[in-house]
Amino acid sequence: MNVAVIGANGGIGRELLPRLDDAGHDPIGIVRDESQFDEIRDRGGEPRLGDLEGEFADALEACDAVVFTAGSGGDTDWGKTLLIDLWGARRSIDACVEQGIDRFVMISSFNASEPLGEPEAMRPYWVAKRCADDFLEASPLEATILRPTALTDDEGTGHVSSAFEYPGESGASIPRADVAQAVVASLENEDTVGETIRLFGGETPIDTAVQPEN
Ligand SMILES: NC(=O)c1ccc[n+]([C@@H]2O[C@H](COP(=O)([O-])OP(=O)(O)OC[C@H]3O[C@@H](n4cnc5c(N)ncnc54)[C@H](OP(=O)(O)O)[C@@H]3O)[C@@H](O)[C@H]2O)c1
Repeated sequence: MNVAVIGANGGIGRELLPRLDDAGHDPIGIVRDESQFDEIRDRGGEPRLGDLEGEFADALEACDAVVFTAGSGGDTDWGKTLLIDLWGARRSIDACVEQGIDRFVMISSFNASEPLGEPEAMRPYWVAKRCADDFLEASPLEATILRPTALTDDEGTGHVSSAFEYPGESGASIPRADVAQAVVASLENEDTVGETIRLFGGETPIDTAVQPEN
């Protein structure tokens, strides 16, 4: 599968490209700066330029699936949260619909399930993530929404815990590498289409953890 990664130069994106490559897919790394192209190639991806606040849709040409793992980050104001985490996500979904790209994996956030949680200062971000998720769910795309808890740069363990839809308290933090592996596992498991899966650190092999409890 040609899998476009939006946010390919980010923490999860960097972990995801080689894992997609190793799994036999053709990753396309979408970045907003040409100086990042070599890094994308080194990680097994085909680099393409795309800015969620500017020219972007052409970067998705001939893709079979899209992973949204971009984000405005913690050092920007809420304006960027609206523009990237909400509107950028919506533009990505719209572009997929327009171009006939059916498969979409969204990296959301654990607290998007309940955006009015604590700390209060995080609520605008969680609301943005939740609204992006809701827009995706209402779209015709074959979507999987992954909602990880706090991310770390620790080495991947190959194991996580999961909760489908809304039950459960926030669990242990999770390495970005394990979230990236959960993306690959989701793309390769049709049963995850239409599912919202909360992810946190744990002991279940990732392939098993993303399998819905039918
Ligand atoms: N941090 C957490 O604890 C946490 C928890 C749950 C969920 N999440 C979500 O997980 C995802 C990945 O998080 P992360 O910490 O791994 O990401 P990250 O390192 O913050 O990377 C985000 C990426 O988004 C890109 N980006 C920002 N604005 C863009 C634009 N206008 N157009 C195109 N790309 C743009 C950045 O590009 P540049 O490299 O050019 O800056 C960067 O590569 C995000 O969706 C985040 O909301 C994070």
